[in-house]
Order: sequence, then C-alpha cells, then structure tokens
Amino acid sequence: MAGAAALVNKFHARYPASPVPRVWRAPGRVNLVGEHTDYNLGLVVPMAIDLSCWVAAAPTGSPSSEEEWLRAYSEQLGAGSQWRVEDIPNALPAGDWTDRIAGIAWELSRRGVQLRGANVLIDSEVPLGGGLSSSAALGVALALALGGPRDPLELAQLTRAAEMDFAGVPCGIMDQFVSAHGQAGSAILLDCRSLAWRRVQLPGDIAVVTANSMVKHQLGDSAYRTRVEECREAARRLGIGSLRDAELGDLSALDGVSLKRARHVVTENTRVSRFVRAADSGEAAEMGRIATESHISLRDDYEVSCAELDFLVEAALRVEGVLGARMTGGGFGGSTVNLVHPGAVGAFTATLASEYRKYSGLTPEIHVCLASAGASEIFL
Ligand code: GLA
Repeated sequence: MAGAAALVNKFHARYPASPVPRVWRAPGRVNLVGEHTDYNLGLVVPMAIDLSCWVAAAPTGSPSSEEEWLRAYSEQLGAGSQWRVEDIPNALPAGDWTDRIAGIAWELSRRGVQLRGANVLIDSEVPLGGGLSSSAALGVALALALGGPRDPLELAQLTRAAEMDFAGVPCGIMDQFVSAHGQAGSAILLDCRSLAWRRVQLPGDIAVVTANSMVKHQLGDSAYRTRVEECREAARRLGIGSLRDAELGDLSALDGVSLKRARHVVTENTRVSRFVRAADSGEAAEMGRIATESHISLRDDYEVSCAELDFLVEAALRVEGVLGARMTGGGFGGSTVNLVHPGAVGAFTATLASEYRKYSGLTPEIHVCLASAGASEIFL
C-alpha cells in the first residue's frame, strides 16, 4: 500500500525517535440524496469514497512517566499541536482545526479509554471544506488510532459526540456513520432514527462524479445551526418530536420559513425512498431526476445552496449524458454530486471544468468516486 508506506516515511522524518507507527485510514463520503435529513432523524444515502484521511500513530514514553504528551501534525495543513495527556479531560475548544483532535481525545477519555502519550501524523486526500466530510474522516481515523472502539456504530457515535459536545457542531450522524461503516462497491441507505442500514447497489450505467466548487462561504457554520433550530421549531409547532414524523398534509399548520424548511425535510425523505426504489430496479434516469429535484428543494426551500453550486448544477445538466446533479453535504460551497453515464464522464469533466473556470476563475476538482469500505487499520 504505497500511501501507507509514504505516510510511515513522513512519520519517521517528523518523529525520528519514535517506534514504528501503526496506520489507520477512514474515507470521506459523498451523499447521493437525503440532505439535511440526518439531524431530523430521517433517511440518507451516502457512499464512502476512495479519498481517505490517513493517520499514523506510535506511543511515546513509558506509561509510568510523569509527563505524557499527545502530539499531532497535519501534513495537509503544515501545522501541529500538542496536549499534555493529563490535561485532556479538562481541555477546552480552541475554535480551530485542533478541536478535531482534542475533541476525539477528550471524548475517548470521557468514555473511560485510558489515553497514552502518542505521536500522530495525519495526511488526508479528502479536500478540506470540500463538502466530502474531511472532518468525519479525520475523527474516525484518529479515534481508531487512539484506542477507540472497533465496532463501526460505536465508533460513529463516539466521533459524532466529539463533534457535538466538544467542538459544539450540532451535526447529524451521517458522515461519521458512513466513514466508519462504508461498503466497497455500494452506497448505503441509513435510517438516522433506528440506525438500521442496508447496501444500495448503484446500476452499472451510473458514474458518481463530484465537482468541488473550491469555495466555502463563512455563513455555512452559522446557517447550519440556524437550520437545525428552524427544524426543531417547526417540529415543536407541529407537536411532534422531529420532522421525521411530519407528513406533507400536516404542513398547512406552518407558514413562512418553518413551512419551507419542513417541506424540504418531508419531501427529501420521500425522495430517498423513491431513489432507493429506482436504484433497486436499475432506473438510472429516474435516480438522476430525483437528485436534481433534491437540489431544487435545497436551493429554494432549505436555502443552503449558493451561486457557485447552482452554476455547477446547471452547467452539468446541460451536458449530454448527465442524469442528475445536486449539491452534496451541508452547502454554502463545497461540492456537487453528478450522476453521469459512464461513457460521458470524459466530456462532462472537460466541459464542466472549462465552464466553471470561465464563470468563477477557479478550477473545480472533479473526482470520479469509487464506493469504498469504511475505516480500518492498514497493515504494511
Ligand atoms: C453536514 C453534517 C451532516 C449532515 C449534512 C447535511 O455534512 O455533518 O451531519 O447534516 O451536513 O445533510
């Protein structure tokens, strides 16, 4: 495994006195449909992709030494940080990327995992801010490296708790679940209430292609929180625990923003069921249509798209052989996901890149995704 061997070389260069590290990887994800439904306990269809976060880690010092340190360095960011192990239970968020690391260590210690001093090197292929879950991939790989649970569901719950309770991000469970639980060769249907899941096999005449807009608008984080609150408020007005239990007919009791947000969530859950049925019966064109409908709902009712994502979707839909396109992930930048006829991928990539460059001056990173397995240790 060339990637892991290269990581180990970088590890030895950074931590020359360390023993040979162990290596873990956790994939990023693309969500095919079911957006902003996870924290409403609804349905999602994500797929773990062949872009991963890699973590190499080796213990330092002896367990009895007075001062043990957790040291981490990110190759992608060219920056590192360190924490005294005994201080981790009382660590506070710093409001930057180091919270992803401290949060995992803090959550592990909260759950009774005995932390030890360690040197950690992180290298990731998942683009930061690209809407493909770079944070979840880092969290899951790091939790494994620091002695977290091997069971994928427990691992997902732990890394989500770190994100919510330490970093203060009120996210759903989709990203962590699929990074821990991805299935080679297929997407998964996850019910975010029961946590029951199953494979969703994509028809052979669909390629899943992501296009990174290369923008991430600042508004995204606060808008995400606002959407979570707006959905809670809509559910409260409907007298139900979550929008998972709402039906279209109930929504006449709502108006304004509540109505729009709830309408997106209710119709998006229906789109997930339709999408999975279409996948099961090999109806690629129908899957594409549903994906595009999802984008329109996210743009108009949920209001989490942006000009760059809308442009990418519209430009994609003009290309022959594109079955559907939508933003994927939280929105306000990041990536689109395109369902493309495999024979059209070359023309699609060239056309989309050139149109987007003309529009924005930016070169989109376009990636043909392979459905990948969830997180694991890599044995060299
Ligand atoms: C982000 C969150 C997920 C999910 C998506 C939107 O990726 O981390 O939990 O809410 O946005 O579907």
